This record gives sequence, structure tokens and C-alpha cells, in this order.
Amino acid sequence: MNPMTNTRLLRHGFEYREPTSVDEAVSLLAIRGDQARVLAGGTDLVVQMKLERVAPQLLVSVKRIPELAEIAVHDAGVRTGATVSIRDIGADETIRARYAALAEACAAFGSAQIEVMGTIGGNICNASPAADTVPALIALDAEAVIRGPNGERRVPVESFATAPGDTVLRNDEMLIAVDIPAAKTGSGSAFLKIGRVAADIAKVNAAVAIVRDGDRVIDCRIALGSVAPTVVGARRAEAALTVNTFSAKFLSEAARLAVEDATPIDDVRSTASYRREIVRVLVHDGLLSAWDRTGQMTPRAPLSGFVTKLIIARRAEPRNMPNDLRMTVNGQDRSFSVAPNDLLYGVLRDDLELTGAKYGCGIGECGACTVRVDGKPVLSCLTLAASVDGSNVTTVEGLQRPTGELDELQDAFIKHSAFQCGYCTPGILMAARSLLDENPQPTEETIRRYLRGNLCRCTGYQSIVRAILSVGSRDRPNVR
Ligand SMILES: Cc1cc2nc3c(=O)[nH]c(=O)nc-3n(C[C@H](O)[C@H](O)[C@H](O)COP(=O)(O)OP(=O)(O)OC[C@H]3O[C@@H](n4cnc5c(N)ncnc54)[C@H](O)[C@@H]3O)c2cc1C
Ligand code: FES
Ligand code: FES
Repeated sequence: MNPMTNTRLLRHGFEYREPTSVDEAVSLLAIRGDQARVLAGGTDLVVQMKLERVAPQLLVSVKRIPELAEIAVHDAGVRTGATVSIRDIGADETIRARYAALAEACAAFGSAQIEVMGTIGGNICNASPAADTVPALIALDAEAVIRGPNGERRVPVESFATAPGDTVLRNDEMLIAVDIPAAKTGSGSAFLKIGRVAADIAKVNAAVAIVRDGDRVIDCRIALGSVAPTVVGARRAEAALTVNTFSAKFLSEAARLAVEDATPIDDVRSTASYRREIVRVLVHDGLLSAWDRTGQMTPRAPLSGFVTKLIIARRAEPRNMPNDLRMTVNGQDRSFSVAPNDLLYGVLRDDLELTGAKYGCGIGECGACTVRVDGKPVLSCLTLAASVDGSNVTTVEGLQRPTGELDELQDAFIKHSAFQCGYCTPGILMAARSLLDENPQPTEETIRRYLRGNLCRCTGYQSIVRAILSVGSRDRPNVR
């Protein structure tokens, strides 16, 4: 990062549009060519714009297109729309039961807030070799469904990224969905990742999917991330496994051969030699997990056509930009005039003087700016104000009850000395409130995991965890 970059602001101006259909989005892309970019959750694109690596003149937000926000289960498999969030994919019962590798890849994401904001389409189209869902999708033989002015085409996810940051998409095309074929009888899959810390992208990740028949593997897919310019398949290892009886010997041999398909580099996250060694370990352990899971998959019921349809799109109403942002903030209806490059935390702090949300890193890594949008924890430093039109926004100032008393979580933070500094605490409170609403009785492990994207640099998390546990344990008399 340029040390002079000010990540508090999104400095350059651009036009912002929110089409409500794929055709409309594709027309905008066709007219504006390489000046336009698709915006989904913004957790990659807004960071790149803040760091001044890209400067599109038009952002085409696709979050209000209902067609892109569905998970659908068919006889032929599962289709997930491009804007389905990492959180919703990881929580989907069918995906968890049939495609363990994909569910595990989603669970490995950097933070609860990034899971909520980030989308599967953004993860694929960003074309990072470290993208977590991509190895899982490649191992599961998924296909990208692309729409452009001339209709639809399909590309295996394995061939979608052509170089870091580059894909097969033309300027006038967008990804609309990912199709994952039906899991075969006897199949099992797994995803594993090693990062520097829990809230980081991968040093190395790997996904495997196998089909078992008795004591043999009859089909095998292995994909490796962060060890080449794009996610790569480990062809030699796949071949070694599929012709032999599954044994410790062939497992070790496959893991060793997988290393030959990795061409890692030394960088800020790791050395090449460490990465090679980790490939061996992850492939070995992933294959063992996948083998153990074969046959455990929930049997596929005889389905007829469309079974599940989850609509999670935001309100789809066309509107003009700028000038007409309306939202409910801490229970009060507010309307504003905003520019496309105004960020939510700027509007909250500067226009509404709600200074609870703090500016820490400005690029999604510290959680200090966390607020709740429609009940979900969101990083206001990466959220365009325009994109929350019609939403219900809660900041730490709105956490107290309507009667003016503190929320039980705030009381617990005082009681357990969890208010360690004023900088991180508002974001931690907003994330913790979201956790308790989702899971009223979280375990210590769940709390620590949920808060992995809220950094505290002072005394650690012990008091914070104790405070949250005490609220969650109110109905459990033996826990304090
Ligand atoms: C703190 C932090 C932690 C992170 N941790 C992880 C992690 O653990 N694992 C991981 O894999 N990633 C991680 N990421 C990266 C990022 O969150 C994911 O890649 C995420 O899935 C991107 O989705 P998005 O919707 O936010 O994409 P956006 O930022 O909206 O878009 C990303 C790119 O894809 C393009 N795009 C998006 N949707 C489409 C579409 N439908 N058609 C065509 N082009 C499209 C955009 O133009 C842009 O170029 C992290 C990011 C941050 C800031
Ligand atoms: S300021 Fe938003 S995550 Fe750090
Ligand atoms: S709570 Fe802010 S540094 Fe620990």
C-alpha cells in the first residue's frame, strides 16, 4: 500500500447505478465498456478503489437483482446465484450436507462481517489465487454461468481465472450463477486452509473431492490455492489415487505428487518452501477427511425439478442517484443527499454525528467501524452509503433500549470490565449483539470465532468473552 493513501475516504468520484435485472446490468456494462465495474459486496473492489489500484467511472451494483440472490436445488445439483453471501452459502443445509468442501471454505473466511458482506460471485470474479471458495468449487466440478448481450455461456470454474485479477469475462459480461453438479453416491469432500491468523487470506488452501467404491477411489479432484498464479488442479495426485486401493501408502504418495503441481512464491504471507510442505499436509489430511465422509452424505431424495428457493435479495426498486438516500438510523427515519463515493461511516460520523463507529484501518481488517444493517454486522468503512437505501441501520448509540436503559450486553461489559478502550468497543458490541441475536447461547469457542474480525490490541479478549458468555448464559443457571 502507498503509505500516503488515506483509506478513510473513497477519493475518486464515479457514477453509481443499481439495476434490478440482469439485462439492465449487462446493457450498462455493454455501453460503458472497461470504464464500468460490477459491485457486489465490495469487500475486494472498495478496498482496491480506496488503495487507488482501480478507478472505475461507473459502478454497477448487482445486489438488488433478485435472480442473482437465490440458492436453488435441482435434480442436476445446486445453483447458487452470484450475489449469495458467503454466510448464506456456508449456512445452507443442502450445501453443508452434500458439499462439505464448499461449506468449509465459507467457514474459513476472514471474519463474520466479511462473510456477511462478501459474495460467491465476488470471490470468483476477483480472481485471487487465495480465494477460498474457488478450490472447493473446482474440486466439486462447478461451472460458472455467464450472461452477456449475446446470451448465456458456461465455463468450468477451473478455467474462469486466467491470471491474478483476470478472468474470461468480457467487459460486457457478468457472472450470474455457479452450478454445482449433484453429488454422486459414495462421494465426500473437504477443504483445509492455513493462514497467518484466523482473520486472514490463505497462505495455502486445498480442496479435495472423491468418489469411493468399496476400498477404491474411482474419481478424485484436488485443487490448490495460493501456490500458483491461479488456483490449480493436482492432476498427478488425482491419477495416482484413482488407480489404486486407498491405503496409507498411496495417500502419502498422492500428497507428495500434489506438491509437484504447486509453483509457490515467497511473499509477505509465507515462503515458497513452507507453502510446498503445507500443500503436502493439507492434501494428505483433506483426502483422509473426504474418505471418512464418503457414504455419510445425506442421501439424495428423488427430487423433481425445483425444490428450494431462497430469496435474499434486497428491495428491488429502481431509483435515481444521487440525492435520495433514505434509511432508518437507530429507529429514526432519515433522508440524505449523498454522493456515490460517500461511505456509510462518513455519513454516520460526519452528517449524523454518531461517532460510535470508528475508523481504524479503513480496509475491512479491524472491525472498529462495525454497525448493523438490517440486523447483520457490516463494515461501514467498505459500505457505500448509497447501497443501504431503505435499510435499517443501528450504531452503538442505538443499542440502548427505547426506555433509555443500557442494553444487557452493555451492562455485562461494564460488570465484567470488558470496556477496555473506546476505540474497539463499539464495533465489538455491534458484532457481539449480532452473534447473540443469531445464537442466544454461544459457547466460548463460538464467541471467539465470531469476533475474529474485531481486533483488540490491548489486554486481550478474556473479559469481553466473559461478558458475552454471561448474557448468553442467563437461561443457564449454572454458568456465570
Ligand atoms: C479483511 C478481509 C478479509 C478477507 N478474507 C478472505 C478470506 O478469508 N477468504 C477469501 O477467499 N477472501 C477473503 N477476502 C476477500 C473478499 O472478501 C472475497 O473475495 C469476497 O468473496 C468478495 O466478494 P464481494 O461480493 O465483496 O466482491 P466485490 O468486492 O464486490 O467484487 C470483487 C470483484 O469481482 C467483480 N464482481 C463481483 N461480482 C461480479 C459478478 N457477478 N460478475 C462480474 N464481476 C463481478 C467486481 O467487479 C470486482 O472486480 C477478504 C477481504 C477482506 C477485506
Ligand atoms: S475501519 Fe473498517 S474494518 Fe477497520
Ligand atoms: S479493546 Fe481496544 S485495544 Fe483492546
